[in-house]
Order: sequence, then C-alpha cells, then structure tokens
Amino acid sequence: MTNAEVCALGRANYTENYSQFPLAIRSGRGIVLTDEDGKEYLDFVSGIAVNALGYGDEEERRALLEVLDDGVLHTSNLFYNRRAVEAAAMLNRLAGSNRVFFCNSGTEANEAALKMARKFGSPLGKTTVISFHHSFHGRTYGSMTLTGQEKYHKGFSPLVPGVKYAEYNDIESVRAVMDETVCAIIAEPLQGEGGIIPADPDFLSGLRELCDRYGALLIFDEVQCGMGRTGRPFCFQHYSVTPDILTLAKALGGGLPMGSALAFGKAADIFSPGDHAATFGGNVAAAALATVVLSRLEELSAEVARKGEYLAEGLRAIAARHPDKVSAVRGLGFMQGLDLTVPVRAVVSSCMEEGLLVCSAGYTVLRLVPPLITTCAEIDRALAIIDRSLARVSL
Ligand SMILES: Cc1ncc(COP(=O)(O)O)c(C=O)c1O
Repeated sequence: MTNAEVCALGRANYTENYSQFPLAIRSGRGIVLTDEDGKEYLDFVSGIAVNALGYGDEEERRALLEVLDDGVLHTSNLFYNRRAVEAAAMLNRLAGSNRVFFCNSGTEANEAALKMARKFGSPLGKTTVISFHHSFHGRTYGSMTLTGQEKYHKGFSPLVPGVKYAEYNDIESVRAVMDETVCAIIAEPLQGEGGIIPADPDFLSGLRELCDRYGALLIFDEVQCGMGRTGRPFCFQHYSVTPDILTLAKALGGGLPMGSALAFGKAADIFSPGDHAATFGGNVAAAALATVVLSRLEELSAEVARKGEYLAEGLRAIAARHPDKVSAVRGLGFMQGLDLTVPVRAVVSSCMEEGLLVCSAGYTVLRLVPPLITTCAEIDRALAIIDRSLARVSL
C-alpha cells in the first residue's frame, strides 16, 4: 500500500478522535523512520516519548525472539513470569521503591495510584486529591479528572468527585486548598502535555513537606518524563524529593504497552489481594522489553544528561536567531520545548516536509522528545531543519 492508501483507509475506518498527519510509517532503523512511499524522517517524536532505544535495537529483537521461542506471550496474574518479576526488581532497585504494580498504559498507572490514595485515605476520612492546572494524567475517568485542563473535560461530565486544582510551581496555591481531607497530591515533576514546564525545586520540596504535615501521599506522574528522558533514570532524582507513588509508562515497555505504579515506604502495603488488577499487567513480551530498557537505563540517562545539554544549547541559539518567533526554551535532557509565537502546527508540518518529525505540547510549544540513543550529529541535523522551518513560517 502507498502512504496515501494507508491514510485513506485509516480515515475511512477509525473513529475521528485524532487529527492525524498524512504519514504512514513502515519501518525504522536507529532514529530514522521510513514511510510507506520510502521517504525517510529523523524522528524527534519517538512515538511520543516511547521509543527510547530507537528502532531495530538488537537486544530488543533478541529478547522478543526468546519470548516467542518460549511460546508464552501472556500468563495472567494468576501466575508469576520470570520477565515481569525481573522488571519489577530492576524498577525497585533503580527508583528505590518497594513494590510495583504493572498495567498497560499511563492512564491506568494513574488510576492505580488514585485507588491506592483513596484506599489509604478513606479510613482516615481523607478522600480529596489535589492536582495542577496544565497537568496531563490520561484519558480514563479518574486520570482525566486529575488532568487540570478544561479542554480534556469538556463534554464528559460528571467527572470523578473529590479533585481540586492548584497552580503549578505556586506552593501558596496548594496551601490554600490543603487540609485534613486530602489523601494525595499528584504532580508531574516536568509537565509534558501542558507545555514542557519543569518544576521548581522549592515547589516539589514544598509539596513533600505539605504531604508529610497533613498525612497525605505524594504521587509523581513520570509517565512522560521518567525512564531516562531527563538525564536521570527518573526525573524526581534531579530533586531531593522522593514520592510515595511513582507512575511510569511510555518508554517502560520498549515500544510495547506497559505501565506501572511504584509504591514507596508507607504506600507499599496499601493494596491487598483483590483490590486492583490488570489482565495484561506484566505481560511477558512487554516485560522482556522492559528488562532490556531498564538494564541500560543508568548508562542511557548519563548520556542523555550530556547530549540534552547540547540539544538545549542549540535550541537557545535558535531562539536567539528568531526572537520574534520563540518566546522561551524549556526542558530537561531529551524533553525540550520551544514556546512559539507562530502556529506550532505550521512548524511541525514544515519540519515534516524536510524529513524531521517533531510534535506539539499545549497550544504554543514545539516539543522535542527524541529516542535516548540520538547522537549529537543527529541533533545538529534536526536543529538545522527547525531553524530553516522557523525562518519559513511567518508570524
Ligand atoms: C504525564 C502523563 N501521564 C499520563 C499519560 C497518559 O498515558 P497513556 O496515553 O499511556 O494512557 C501521559 C500521556 O501523554 C502523560 O504524558
């Protein structure tokens, strides 16, 4: 099938909830994707912060072949499987957590965290959860309610009760809604969909302090900013603040669907048998890929710390060349955003024409989330395309 034929078939048969670009991806190697017509693209989207090891990674290929040779793709959670328990042990070692719950996506990971928080708080009369404006936590009802952006709520009332919103990076706004009824605060240490907004260190330590004072749990959603993307295995490790629950997904399964909620200390024993479940949680194939990604996470994140600074420097230089079109450069490691005064979608399309995939975040931000294996030479090529595209798109 040609690119156009695949897109037409998709448009005719899918529900209309996405506004997809007319591009059908066929194959990939390294960080280069090839479409159905054979055109190549440098990929700075990574399936939206998923494909940490890029495409065609040899270790991932071998891990999947081993699973296929063993013949069991799925076991259910009535039984254990070696790959999932190994992935859980690796997560606990890397994050310093005590217990892992596996599911299939970011929204499910946050649903698990929400249920842990309510189960923890209910006997004490605590059921309120505080979340933040500009946050994004997923599309199922609980996570959608936690998402502090009106546009995601519109048309879907009634939402889940007991959620309050405060201003990100404004601890006074949290104090204003914090009380004895709060069972948890949930925050992204680096907001993604809301526009690539890093947390101030004082803000995160302020949240920790409030949770400790009021006996509430602190949940960090690192679905997007976790798994090495910011230059540490987990984003919270940039700060001297440890959460009670950490949610992950996206890059965790190496391209297969996998999410997790990691529980620390007093949160570790909240769930009892029967409290929560996911049929596919800890799926053998996804867990096999997770062990590959996790075994390389420390090395990858150290590289991302170095190359991320190189990327950020290049973006700052671009911002200086286009001061009328770029109002800010924000991010950490390989999660960077350019806040634009020109239409983001026009820049995305222009980059795509030149063979670079980038995406947006919020209404005005051009988001760069390349695979963690991206080299400085590839960063140079991407920066040159962004520079030319910004020159082309008019105010
Ligand atoms: C911070 C954050 N949390 C949760 C989610 C939801 O993840 P999923 O689409 O896997 O349900 C996302 C997705 O972009 C995210 O960025």
